Amino acid sequence: MIYFANPKSEYIFLKKKINKKINDVLNSNSYILGNEVRQFENRFSKYLGLKYSVGVSNGTDALILSLKAVNIKKGDEVITTSHTAYATIAAIVEAGAKPVFVDIKEDDFNMNSAELKKKITKKTRAIIIVHLYGNPADIVEISKVAKKNKIYLIEDCSQAHGAEFNKKKVGTFGDLSCFSFYPTKNLSTFGDAGIVCTNNKKMFKKIKFFREYGWKKKNIGVSEGYNKRLDELHAGILNVKLDNIDKFNKKRILIANKFLNLIKSKKILLPQKNNTKKHVFHLFVIRVKNYI
Ligand SMILES: Cc1ncc(COP(=O)(O)O)c(C=O)c1O
Repeated sequence: MIYFANPKSEYIFLKKKINKKINDVLNSNSYILGNEVRQFENRFSKYLGLKYSVGVSNGTDALILSLKAVNIKKGDEVITTSHTAYATIAAIVEAGAKPVFVDIKEDDFNMNSAELKKKITKKTRAIIIVHLYGNPADIVEISKVAKKNKIYLIEDCSQAHGAEFNKKKVGTFGDLSCFSFYPTKNLSTFGDAGIVCTNNKKMFKKIKFFREYGWKKKNIGVSEGYNKRLDELHAGILNVKLDNIDKFNKKRILIANKFLNLIKSKKILLPQKNNTKKHVFHLFVIRVKNYI
């Protein structure tokens, strides 16, 4: 039996450490935005090689807050691909903007940068680039297009924790990057969680305020705001799992290489290897000729 995803296996592997962490958090008397969240934010920033991270409630909220941080408003256009999780589009609609779709490439299912240029209009305010299935998109080329046209670039890395382009982690190329830690993701908790990462101090502060009622300090409101907080239990579990992300990704790559070597059918198109990209195989997706 090959599971589509098996998050319980990671729990079994790390059971002692995770149970201890849950016990520690329950005894800490601090359950929301405490030491575990702060520690995870700092450690995740370091893992990526960025300055700032803000832990949030889930990956969709990470995208919504990022769009709000770059002032997306009604009538603005946000470019992305339709071949992504529903959440990417839901976030654009929630922010009040119109999603504009660019087609994907056949070899990696990610955005076609040549097509991107054709979709830019006066109303385009941002691009959400998705690194789908764990495979980096052509982020350097897309970043150039965004910069040239003065459009914000947001990376949706929800399926690509630890993936790299030219040995640089995805999530470090755009103005902001968003990750989901949903249970089936490469880095995950046993519930909902997400994070927004950036090198931009102004955006970092904005997202921090938005995350909790617009508060600068408890009960001191300085902006609009919501409740999109990360709790201590999930941050604690993520702190345990972050120590293992590279090991888990290595295993995914090993299994993917096995599939690549063993599947020989001419009717099946396999994921393509590319020397500039580190694919972390969130999913191993094939294409089949003549499905019926
Ligand atoms: C590409 C992509 N973007 C966004 C999300 C949304 O994440 P979440 O389910 O944590 O809201 C997901 C996860 O389902 C995803 O795969």
